[in-house]
Amino acid sequence: MVQHSITKPRKILFVCLGNICRSPMAEAVMARLVQENGYEGEFTLDSAGIISYHRGELPDSRMRSHAGRRGYRLTHRSRPVHTDDFYRFDLIIGMDAGNMDALHERAPSTDEWEKIHCITDYCTRFTDADQVPDPYYGGDAGFEYVIDLLEDACAGLLAQCR
Ligand code: 4NP
Repeated sequence: MVQHSITKPRKILFVCLGNICRSPMAEAVMARLVQENGYEGEFTLDSAGIISYHRGELPDSRMRSHAGRRGYRLTHRSRPVHTDDFYRFDLIIGMDAGNMDALHERAPSTDEWEKIHCITDYCTRFTDADQVPDPYYGGDAGFEYVIDLLEDACAGLLAQCR
């Protein structure tokens, strides 16, 4: 059980390095779960990147293709994390240790620091996973594994937001 500093968090920001693979995928997985569980309109979901290199771009074509095979359509445009995000969102969810370090460094104060969590902490099936690995330089299996992990983690996350 992850301890949240805010009861019934409803505004969730997913963060990865480039905001073109993992975090837009997490946003889409969570959006579907929210809809399927009757919470549509209650949650504010978004994603952002530690780096701004891909600003304005759609998710990576490989990520979109793998997502499409499971019925997810990724339309997010990459954007970097802003300081303002730490105030606007209830939870800031990173994908790996590098994301977590970068987010902790940027948190403007202790209250915002406490909003930062690693997505694999919500897994209930992949309990040995301690990160969602960057699929960018890998092959097809890496992208499938990202979606497998995120479907598990986001189900656990929604369960802890009820
Ligand atoms: P993401 O994957 O963090 O899951 O969006 C990456 C995308 C791009 C880069 C690194 C990771 N990049 O270095 O450009």
